[in-house]
Amino acid sequence: MERYAIKGGNPLVGEVEIGGAKNAALPILAASTMTNETVYIDNMPDVRDINVMLSAMKDIGVLEERTGRHQVTLNAGNIHSLVVENDSIKKIRASYYLVGALLGKYHHAEVALPGGCDIGCRAIDQHIKGFKALGAEVVIEHGLIKAKAENLVGNHIYMDCVSVGATINILMAATLAEGTTIIENAAKEPHVVDLANFLNSMGARIKGAGTDVIRVKGVTKLHGSEYTIIPDQIEAGTFMFAAAITKGDILVKNVIPKHLESITAKLLEIGCEVEESDDCMRVVASKPLKTTHVKTLPYPGYPTDMQPQITTALAMAQGTSIVTDTIFENRFKYVDELIKMGANIKVEGTTAIIDGVGHFTGATISAPDLRAGAALVLAALSADGFTLVEDIQYIERGYEDFPEKLQSLGAQIEFVENERDFQKFQLKTG
Ligand code: EPZ
Repeated sequence: MERYAIKGGNPLVGEVEIGGAKNAALPILAASTMTNETVYIDNMPDVRDINVMLSAMKDIGVLEERTGRHQVTLNAGNIHSLVVENDSIKKIRASYYLVGALLGKYHHAEVALPGGCDIGCRAIDQHIKGFKALGAEVVIEHGLIKAKAENLVGNHIYMDCVSVGATINILMAATLAEGTTIIENAAKEPHVVDLANFLNSMGARIKGAGTDVIRVKGVTKLHGSEYTIIPDQIEAGTFMFAAAITKGDILVKNVIPKHLESITAKLLEIGCEVEESDDCMRVVASKPLKTTHVKTLPYPGYPTDMQPQITTALAMAQGTSIVTDTIFENRFKYVDELIKMGANIKVEGTTAIIDGVGHFTGATISAPDLRAGAALVLAALSADGFTLVEDIQYIERGYEDFPEKLQSLGAQIEFVENERDFQKFQLKTG
């Protein structure tokens, strides 16, 4: 099992290029099964969750060719099965996007229930409510969500909570339903908008994505498309916080600054300098970090996927900060690992009370999930001494070339397989 060996203490300095958004790419892949024509997608991130999704699609007959590391051509004209239960698909959350896509196109789908990061109860009642409102029968049996419809007919759907996944799933099914669907209290995240733009590029008639109310006029068929995925908001935000946490100076390139506004606002509050240009953000942390309070919220609020990164930064600030995660109820599991590194954080329910300690010390820690894993790596890069980060497979789900990108900024981080490799790393860098 591979782990990261890290020697902390170097401020990260330099430039880093951000890849395509994983959470936009996953529904866009699912949506590409909704046409029989060929779809060409650019800026596809090469991360584990995407590769699992591609292999599940291949299993049901989607023809796929990676024409470059970040380019993929797909043709779903010969799908031979509407049952998706590939073993690895059970491990990724986005598997359920194939329900909306296949239900829309074939009026039938059976997909293994989603896994994904263990960050709290991840209900799917709003997805089911939406599919039923469009006329589908939905049951959960033997670990599969089974959805079937004679006809899909547009409807007025009010979402009881703001859900990225449910908005996306309903959007896909409604695209090929008869008549108009109105989704109220829809999620507004950039990846929801990117999916809607992709569907529109295939001939869908979707308006209002990015607002609370999305209107979908059903069409009978979608056509092929060429599409480029937006840059990853959370990868960009993670590198912006890498500057804050390591007291560095990083130019984060190929981003959409508008998507980063809540992250930029918090970095300014904690005392970083942030310079914005057309498609770059530069973050400089030359002064001691200040405290702040944070509440995660649906977009345009501060993202839950950036909660571990800001908590880690605040654990180094002088004074007390409070961070509340209002989206997921179990997203502070990594705090025990930060405590091993010297942090002083108390978690009460969905709130963390953080007394900043100025600096961390290296330890053996383990990544409990994707974003927390990335935040722990950043903590290790700022810490005195050596850290061994275990369970890095979580980080590889969503960050492409994470150690390589960090190395290019001056980080001392390497893959190691065992204790002996770790000792060699310590001798080499010590
Ligand atoms: C997406 O998850 C992302 N995953 C998550 O990113 C992200 O943290 C989350 O949105 C919030 O932004 C993908 O895009 C693949 P939700 P999703 O449905 O769609 C409740 C990462 O690190 N809810 O918006 O599962 C739910 O319990 C991952 O990249 C219901 O109650 O999130 C949660 O409290 C981790 N019923 C809240 O809504 C439902 O039917 C938000 O969940 C659906 C959701």
